[in-house]
Order: sequence, then structure tokens, then C-alpha cells
Amino acid sequence: MVEPIKFTTREERADLLKRAHFNVFQIASENVIIDLLTDSGTTAMSSEQWAGMLRGDEAYAGAKSWYRFRTVLESLTGMPHILPTHQGRASERILFELIGGPTKVIPNNNHFDTTRANIEHTGAKAVDLVIAEGRDPRSQHPFKGNLDPRKLEQLIAEVGAGQIPVCMITVTNNSNGGQPVSLENLKQVKAICAKSKIPLFLDACRFAENAYMIKQREPGQNKRSVSDIVREMFDIADGATISAKKDGLVNIGGVLLMRDNELAEKANNLLILTEGFVTYGGLAGRDLEAMAQGFTEVLDEDYLRYRLRSVQYLGEHLLKAGIQIVEPPGGHAIYIDAQDFCSHIPREQFPGQALVCALYHHAGIRAVEIGSVMHGGGEEKPSAPAMELVRLAIPRRVYTQSHIDYVIEATIEVFSQRDELCGLKIVEAPKALRHFTAKFEEIRSTKEKD
Ligand SMILES: Cc1ncc(COP(=O)(O)O)c(C=O)c1O
Repeated sequence: MVEPIKFTTREERADLLKRAHFNVFQIASENVIIDLLTDSGTTAMSSEQWAGMLRGDEAYAGAKSWYRFRTVLESLTGMPHILPTHQGRASERILFELIGGPTKVIPNNNHFDTTRANIEHTGAKAVDLVIAEGRDPRSQHPFKGNLDPRKLEQLIAEVGAGQIPVCMITVTNNSNGGQPVSLENLKQVKAICAKSKIPLFLDACRFAENAYMIKQREPGQNKRSVSDIVREMFDIADGATISAKKDGLVNIGGVLLMRDNELAEKANNLLILTEGFVTYGGLAGRDLEAMAQGFTEVLDEDYLRYRLRSVQYLGEHLLKAGIQIVEPPGGHAIYIDAQDFCSHIPREQFPGQALVCALYHHAGIRAVEIGSVMHGGGEEKPSAPAMELVRLAIPRRVYTQSHIDYVIEATIEVFSQRDELCGLKIVEAPKALRHFTAKFEEIRSTKEKD
């Protein structure tokens, strides 16, 4: 796939930023030079995936493409119930509508924003139980995505197992630096859940990247194949929500997996109500073909080695220039410690958002804030999250090393002028998922304005 890159000038970008109310979600993608907003749905598909798209069987029920998709997912995960959905949050909505509700509490290492929002939408409470090292950007712990087993036991003792309809673990832990979860941790958490009869579900968007890091980092795992490790991760779980827009290597699609027959029957009914019949779930047959192929290709260890290495390359160069990132580099993105980068901007003036705007203004690079704008503030979540991060997410199979070198150079240039960055205030925002549409204004000192 070849796409032209339009170059904008600094002056044009200053104007575009202003018109977007300093929210890069509101900028048209053609005005972005390097788009690191997300790795979700931004994958370049392979020739085999495009070939599959042409073969897509569009029968309403029991299409050939559905059977191919199901066979691949069965062998990947071993799960008996496989529900296709249009994306991850559709899987989340179905699951939490069935098991959430007021008084319920749902733990996770760290909930992703849509997971949290779908849980809270049912009146339930979403709780983050990541290990302490996961909150420290400098910690070199190899599995900073791990869920703290002691905190889980405490939560069960506090609220009672009956109030916890599911325990989630996000692999890799996107909201916490794309950090992996170890097999050992999955087993520990599963043992605690099993004692209290709490099902364990994975938020498994980046299962292959997580498995590759298990292979690289967990003692005794480096001789195993990634597909073997992936299968063990799913074998430990009772179900999973997946956005196929990440390790499914597609532009749209999701999956909901489960073992429980009764829950699956209810989920199928909801799927039919809002997504589509159970053999296509809100997708076209050609999308199922692309997913089946993507879920196969992602296990290619040459691909995974290249992917993780290129993310590391970006991280290493930023660190060398003195830019603090969440260490060690995660699977799909580099997370800059924005509080460290803009130490002169107080948290209530959104240092992460200030850095996001500066990267766009300086070089047309679109990143995303994962800090007080995304996870804090508002009436519902007055407390700030543990870290103020800016994520540079790398789309799969899209950018080359020279694009990444451009990002490195530009970020270092912004770093050298960091004292000039100014804070922001929110002037308009919705109650939930405010980062998508919030409007900001710059807080410039009177002297600067003059
Ligand atoms: C960990 C995690 N869970 C859930 C989702 C939601 O997936 P989707 O965007 O397909 O709804 C995302 C998307 O970025 C994610 O990273």
C-alpha cells in the first residue's frame, strides 16, 4: 500500500491546531505527516489479506468466510464460543451489559478507556490493580503489566467475590505503557479467581506482542513458539474480548470469546440484537477473511521480531537524548513521560496534551495523551492517573526506519525547546471519553501574549 504524505508548514499547523481547539482528534488525517495517534485499525494489510477480501463469502448465515474465521480462532485460542463483532468495544459492551450493573466491581491490571467506559456505563465500578512497578516509568521490571495478586485478594476480601462478576487482564497493558503480562502472573491470578469462582477474561488485543515478550523475557520460555505461548495464555482464561484492529492486523473487526455455555447463549442474543447474526456479527464476509488471515500472519516470529525491535529503536534513541519514556519499551508504542518532559507545566494544565500539541505544531506528528485528559478529571473521575504519558503508537507494517528517524529528530528538537511549551485548560468536554472531543485553550502568560 503506498500513500502520499502531504507536507504542511508550521504556520498552517498552528492554524489547524487552533481550529481543532488543541485537540488532535479533530485534525483531518491528510494534514498529519506521521500519524502515531494509534496502532488500532491502522495496519497495512498483506497481499494474502487483500486476496481473502476478494474471496469473501457474503452469505447472511453460515458463509464460508465465517467457517474459515472460526477455524482459525478455535485453533488460536481453544475457546468453544467465538462471536465476531465490529470492534473491541462492541465485545465489551455485550459482555458488560450481561455481567455488569450497579454494585458490581470489575478489576483489571489497567482498564483501557473504552473498557472502563463500558463498565461504568452499566453502573459498575472499574478498578486498576497493576503492580507498583507498573506505575514507575523508570522501573526495569520485565512484566510491568502484571496484575498485583495481593491487591486482587484484598479486593475480593473487601467487596466479596459475589460482587466481582469477572476479573480482566489486558495484554499487553495499553494504558500502562504497552507493558507485557507474564504467564506466571496469569496463572497466579487465575488461581485466585478460581478459588472464588470468578471467571478470568483477557482483554487480548495485543496477545501476540505479549506472547513474544514472554518468549524474550520470561525464564524458561525462549525455546517455545509464539503460537504455543499464545495458546497457553488463552488456555488459562475463561474468555476474552479482542479488538482485531491490533494483532488481528485488520482495519476493522473484533471478537468475543468465552467458555461458559449459558453466558454464550445470552451474548449471542445480544449480538443478534445490535451487531448482526452470529456468523457475521456486524462485519462483511470479506472482513472475516481478512481477520482469519491476520490472526494467522501475526504469529510469524520474523514479523514480531521486526515490530518489537523497531519500537525499541525509537525508545532507545529518545532515552539517549535524555527523554524519559516508560521503560523498558513496550510492544506497540513508546510512552513519553510528559510530566518529566514538561516539568514546568503543572498536572492541572495537562503537560501531556501540551506535548501532543507541540509535536504536531513542530513536525506534523500526531500522538495521543494518556494522562489526566484521558483518565482523570471530570465529575466521575476527579483523581489524576498515576502517570502523565504521551503515546507514540506505531501502526503495523506502515512506517519505515526513515519515518521513525524523522520522529526521533523532531521529538528531540521539541525537547530542546521544552521550556517554551505552555499548559492548556479545558473549555468544553463531555462527561465520558472526554479526550476525543474536549476543547482546549492555551494558558499563555500575559508577558508572552504581549
Ligand atoms: C487494550 C484495549 N482494549 C480495548 C480497545 C478497544 O478496541 P476498539 O477500538 O476496537 O473498540 C483498545 C483499543 O485501542 C485497546 O487498546
